[in-house]
Amino acid sequence: MVCLITGSSRGLGKIIALAFGKQGSRVVVHYRDNKSKADDVASEIKESIVLKAEVGDPEKVNALVDDVINKWGGIDVLVNNAGITKEALLIKTSGRDFDDIVNTNLKGPFNFIRAAGRHMMRRRRGHIINVSSFAGIKGKEGLSAYSASKAGLIGLTVTAARELARYNIMVNAVLPGYMLTDMGGGSSDRARDIALRESLVKEFSGPDNVAEFICYLAKTKGITGQVFNLDSRII
Ligand SMILES: NC(=O)c1ccc[n+]([C@@H]2O[C@H](COP(=O)([O-])OP(=O)(O)OC[C@H]3O[C@@H](n4cnc5c(N)ncnc54)[C@H](OP(=O)(O)O)[C@@H]3O)[C@@H](O)[C@H]2O)c1
Repeated sequence: MVCLITGSSRGLGKIIALAFGKQGSRVVVHYRDNKSKADDVASEIKESIVLKAEVGDPEKVNALVDDVINKWGGIDVLVNNAGITKEALLIKTSGRDFDDIVNTNLKGPFNFIRAAGRHMMRRRRGHIINVSSFAGIKGKEGLSAYSASKAGLIGLTVTAARELARYNIMVNAVLPGYMLTDMGGGSSDRARDIALRESLVKEFSGPDNVAEFICYLAKTKGITGQVFNLDSRII
């Protein structure tokens, strides 16, 4: 199985890449800036390649997907995980920050689904799993652009699921809990306090559960167009 995990140089993406590697998959470790971290992840996986692309740049994304197809002949699983955030109240969020966040978190998955989806359609099989966020459903103070991008990603997921089901391509979204990765760990104390308050089990989430769930989802048949909340916050 060939699995392409965007943003797998660190954080959740790294854990997902290692989980697929552990089960014997061929893994594309993707990054934008941190090549050495991506190389370290790949060194722990038996069959892997490390590829760079800015997810918001369709030409770079197409070229990356072509490289994978040339090497391994297809892509079975695409996990759109790469993402960014920046905390600021809506009225203080610059247009540029808004564009950067939407370009990465929403246009990025759009670019990858278009590029990889074509090949999956030809082979009449595939799984696409988009990493959205609880903020995309409930909203979060200080995260207007992020919440909007993640809500958009849910809309993209269900639409892609409707269009691609006839090609036997399953498209789902997952909402991880609050994880202390570079992204989660870098947010304000207030944001972390709120996440803990909303958590019924009063714990931050570990990325391992999310990775395990994604690996499971990638093996299922007939589950598509769904949004899975992976922590104890009640929607
Ligand atoms: N952390 C949380 O609490 C939490 C909760 C819910 C959902 N999520 C979602 O989970 C996903 C992973 O989050 P994380 O916490 O693991 O983040 P992270 O630790 O900050 O890692 C982000 C990853 O995305 C890559 N990336 C960022 N911008 C990119 C771009 N423009 N082009 C290509 N690659 C790019 C980074 O590559 P480089 O290393 O090369 O920079 C890195 O591999 C995100 O979609 C996030 O929104 C996170």
